[in-house]
Amino acid sequence: MSAAPVIAIDGPTASGKGTVAQRVAAALGWHYLDSGALYRVVALLALEEGVDPGDAAGLAALARRLQPRFDGERISLDGREVTEDIRREDVGAMASRIAVHAPLRAALLELQKGFRRPPGLVADGRDMGTVVFPDAVLKVFLTASVEARAQRRHKQLNEKGFPSNIAILLQDLRARDERDSGRSAAPLRPAEDACQLDSSDLCIEQVVALILRWYGER
Ligand code: DC
Repeated sequence: MSAAPVIAIDGPTASGKGTVAQRVAAALGWHYLDSGALYRVVALLALEEGVDPGDAAGLAALARRLQPRFDGERISLDGREVTEDIRREDVGAMASRIAVHAPLRAALLELQKGFRRPPGLVADGRDMGTVVFPDAVLKVFLTASVEARAQRRHKQLNEKGFPSNIAILLQDLRARDERDSGRSAAPLRPAEDACQLDSSDLCIEQVVALILRWYGER
């Protein structure tokens, strides 16, 4: 039996890939994997348990005992709901710091591959098309200018009632981009066979429609 098809959507922080991937999955009736959430869950545990962000072996051990439960948009861990906690800015920054470690990435590999089930999977992250699902039927590298991403994040945070400062957001996004792209373990980069999509001037609906069209053409 051949493996279920995968659409891989990779890109930098705040490129909108989470929302886009979820909508593509819903349109096709496929499963959805938010791989960044797994790194965020490990980051949250590391912060709570005082594991040093430089301790690759300790972080990999945390990841190996991870049994997260995804229920729609809700994520829980040993019966505890962590959906909101893992979205905190300090958790996102920690996730980006710890994601540089190859042993941690290896520990999360099988967990991620386990999400591949019929009728198909839409997976979003940084290395879905390059490392985790290299045989994906469609690979999209979704980008947007750092200014457009900062504006979107600013709007998102304001809507949630969190005050934010554009200059600080820009600084944070640039630092995260540099770390995600500059690391030696599975750096953020488009797969050779990825379709590149700059969403700076597109709305979510346009991006989703384009990806569905590309998939239909395969
Ligand atoms: O997509 P996100 O912002 O939720 O991801 C948080 C961090 O996790 C991101 O800065 C880098 C890391 N990550 C990764 O290294 N590989 C992935 N496939 C997904 C996320």
